[in-house]
Amino acid sequence: MLKAEGIVKSYGNLKVLKSIDIFIEKGRVISIVGASGAGKSTLLHILGTLDRPDQGKVFLDGIDVTNLRNNDLAQYRNKNIGFIFQFHNLLPEFTALENICIPAFLSGNKNDKAIRARGEELLKLLGILERKDHKPAEMSGGEQQRTAVARALMNNPAIIFADEPSGNLDSKTAEGLHQLFFDLRRDLNQTFVIVTHNQELAAMADQKLEIKDGMIINH
Ligand SMILES: Nc1ncnc2c1ncn2[C@@H]1O[C@H](COP(=O)(O)OP(=O)(O)OP(=O)(O)O)[C@@H](O)[C@H]1O
Ligand SMILES: [Mg+2]
Repeated sequence: MLKAEGIVKSYGNLKVLKSIDIFIEKGRVISIVGASGAGKSTLLHILGTLDRPDQGKVFLDGIDVTNLRNNDLAQYRNKNIGFIFQFHNLLPEFTALENICIPAFLSGNKNDKAIRARGEELLKLLGILERKDHKPAEMSGGEQQRTAVARALMNNPAIIFADEPSGNLDSKTAEGLHQLFFDLRRDLNQTFVIVTHNQELAAMADQKLEIKDGMIINH
């Protein structure tokens, strides 16, 4: 599903990632942990094609994404990769349903009715269908994050990357979100790579990767 080989990334003199190799199978929930500034977001962005490594390669489903040009990459990313961030990044002017549908419209799908039906199906799956006409400011933090999860799922991505998805939630809401990831893995065989400071989530994952001194420690 995902293979990264010899990933190196520096910012000026700061060597953030020294030589990272990762192999992730489909249907796995992987956690990435490490101290603040260790390079977790940097690695996640490189694996998720939002950033490029100085050296090394990333393969997603056998495709060398480090070799794709920016235009092809944007399209590839929209179709195959989902993202969930610490601060949901939902568009404030749009309702939950509209936010969820945006990736489908961006992929060039013009079937408005089918897209909205898929959006509603996802909202239902995540238990927030009754919030479909709410804008982000009219939802709780947990509902906003569920909406962000639904948006990430919209285009049936091969893999979802999450950067501290529960960092902004109280512990009970966070627990609900974490359970949701495992439910989606069980029901959809969805693959997740999750950066987290949450020890419980890190421990629940199938594989826990720690970044330390620019290297990966496999727990
Ligand atoms: N665009 C950039 N330019 C220069 N330095 C950067 C840039 N992005 C990140 N860094 C530095 O690289 C290091 C790794 O940053 P990164 O955001 O990956 O850390 P992190 O592990 O995600 O930390 P946190 O847990 O605080 O989110 C940090 O020291 C940071 O200051
Ligand atoms: Mg970070």
